[in-house]
Amino acid sequence: MSARIVVLVSGGGTNLQALLDATADPSYGAEVVAVGADRDGIEGLARAERAGVPTFVAKVGAHATRDDWDSALAAEVAAYEPDLVVLAGFMKLVGPQFLGAFGGRTVNTHPALSPSFPGMQGPRDALEYGVKVTGATLFVVDAGVDTGQIVAQAVVPVEDDDTVETLHERIKVAERTMLVESVGRMVREGFVVDGRRVRFGA
Ligand code: GRF
Repeated sequence: MSARIVVLVSGGGTNLQALLDATADPSYGAEVVAVGADRDGIEGLARAERAGVPTFVAKVGAHATRDDWDSALAAEVAAYEPDLVVLAGFMKLVGPQFLGAFGGRTVNTHPALSPSFPGMQGPRDALEYGVKVTGATLFVVDAGVDTGQIVAQAVVPVEDDDTVETLHERIKVAERTMLVESVGRMVREGFVVDGRRVRFGA
């Protein structure tokens, strides 16, 4: 049986697209049953619509408090009964209601090698620091900023003439492959979180 995945996005959705492409093959073991966003008018939602996947938008500003938004987002996601939730360029921190419902089965991808350079500017911060390699990290979402247990990492070199844009683009190529491979293994093999460590398998 195919695992049910809900993907949350805030932007261009190239990671989402990689998952949509992968799940087109039944042997991948999962289907994207819905795509949610915290804003409208983004290419990520358009990609979902083109793929015939239902979408929803939960805007922070449409709710009186952040907690209300968190509960509304959790309810929207819950309606699709996901086995796994994938945050793919989702630029909001989920809150306690969301984590209460989906903690332990929500992953996020971050464009840096955790625990270095958490936050919104991973590629810029890595470039400014002067590291020679950086990359992407897939992790199990917890209440912190990019602090959850690491499922997978992919490494890319930093080139002398890189800008934030060229570096982020190189990271994103590696990030998409890592995301597709790792999410596939999570749904087909299962995974266990043991302290800080994550391993595939039941
Ligand atoms: C990814 O690099 C993600 O890690 C970061 O923003 C980018 C989103 O790219 N937070 P896309 O929307 O999947 O193209």
